[in-house]
Amino acid sequence: MRSHYLPRLEKKKTIDLRKKHIGPSCKIFFSHDPIKIVQAKGQYMYDEKGQRYLDCINNVAHVGHCHPDVVRAGAQQMEVLNTNSRFLHDNLVLYAQKLQATLPDKLSVCYFVNSGSEANDLALRLAWQYTGHKDIITLENAYHGHVSSLIDISPYKFHQLSDAEQNQYVHVAPSPDVYRGKYRADHPDPATAYADEVKDIIHRAHEKGGKIAAFIAESLQSCGGQVIPPVGYFQQVAEHVRKAGGIVIADEVQVGFGRVGANFWAFQLQGEDFVPDIVTMGKPIGNGHPMSCVVTTKEVAEAFTFSGMDYFNTFGGNPVSCAIGLAVLDVIGKEDLQGNALRVGRYLTDLLEKQKEKHPLVGDIRGRGLFVGMELVKDRLKLTPATAEAQEVIYKLKEQHILLSADGPHRNVLKFKPPMCFTTEDADLVVENIDHILTEIEEAIGLKLHNALKVENESSKRKLPSDENGHQAGYS
Ligand SMILES: Cc1ncc(COP(=O)(O)O)c(C=O)c1O
Repeated sequence: MRSHYLPRLEKKKTIDLRKKHIGPSCKIFFSHDPIKIVQAKGQYMYDEKGQRYLDCINNVAHVGHCHPDVVRAGAQQMEVLNTNSRFLHDNLVLYAQKLQATLPDKLSVCYFVNSGSEANDLALRLAWQYTGHKDIITLENAYHGHVSSLIDISPYKFHQLSDAEQNQYVHVAPSPDVYRGKYRADHPDPATAYADEVKDIIHRAHEKGGKIAAFIAESLQSCGGQVIPPVGYFQQVAEHVRKAGGIVIADEVQVGFGRVGANFWAFQLQGEDFVPDIVTMGKPIGNGHPMSCVVTTKEVAEAFTFSGMDYFNTFGGNPVSCAIGLAVLDVIGKEDLQGNALRVGRYLTDLLEKQKEKHPLVGDIRGRGLFVGMELVKDRLKLTPATAEAQEVIYKLKEQHILLSADGPHRNVLKFKPPMCFTTEDADLVVENIDHILTEIEEAIGLKLHNALKVENESSKRKLPSDENGHQAGYS
């Protein structure tokens, strides 16, 4: 690829300036040897020397890095007008209309904001205002954003603060993880068991005089370890929460916009009988342009006006953001990226399943579309997290110019969430490399398949329905 970019600074100078002027808690990938990316296209990123990296992690560059239609839409609108949403503008209403067409009818009112954090913070305000209640139920290992209100409901973050006092209006429910969680694949009805945990939390909150405003969860947990909740879980949770006068917020900041392949929204994987009261969106919505959105029902939106306070957001819903958002939706449709996510996601999970047959380090493969997790364990019976090994895979892949990350509470889940133009050839390349790296690691630590086979026999006794990617990883 021809580079249009002339590096202005030597890499070392960039590192020195960053150390001097950027807050030290702003972490960088591969801190001992960071990558300086200067250009990107589709599913590839390029460093200052023109070296190409395959991007398997960037779910923000949803339709591909620097997609020409998106870039053009933004640039053209910037030449004409950019202003706030207090003036009438067609882009705002046309975008809202087009976005609404992807959602169930009752989710019809939009608020435009600028980041996933802003979207979730506003969702909490809507819930508090609509219900008149205060308590929030969140999931173990959840991450919902970096602002104060969201650190309070993000165990992924507040557990990192050793002396953090958990806010008393926040209640943490078990993550509906059927691989490592409290109720696993061999449980007869994990959906009900996990939903009953929420019911118990509501009970206990009531006993202490609390009142539930909302249950918030990602439709599929991402930072929490690529967790796929059992089908029926959200329906039952919604019933318990609504009975208590609360509402349900689905955080689709990572998983929305067709990534899961079978549906446009990940909450739809649960079935048509589940519709959240609020959906929050971010990352992929602007393909890298900072925009985000909260969509809710007419009733919730009307209640928000009763506070008597106007809602104003300087940048949210500006004509440039909405032009970009429209272009992103157009490209998803025109290039059938949702279909691609389904096809390539199925291909990728097939390849990864074969790795599981071959490598004892692979404990679980789970995914929907191009949202896939590969959980590494040192022992398939004890589920001992292979944290260091996962880090080694990530670092060795980087040497092969492939970008992948590891997450989850034990940082042992390899996360695939590439741009949606990812191809089967890309999947072949990354899995081939993972295969070599796992072979090397297993030889070095003397891990044999022997232990793993015992577990295969155990798990073959389980009755598991096929998932959306056509694998035995879904539970209903
Ligand atoms: C599920 C989820 N919600 C919300 C956020 C916050 O979004 P932002 O970083 O755009 O504020 C993130 C960010 O990683 C996220 O993963």
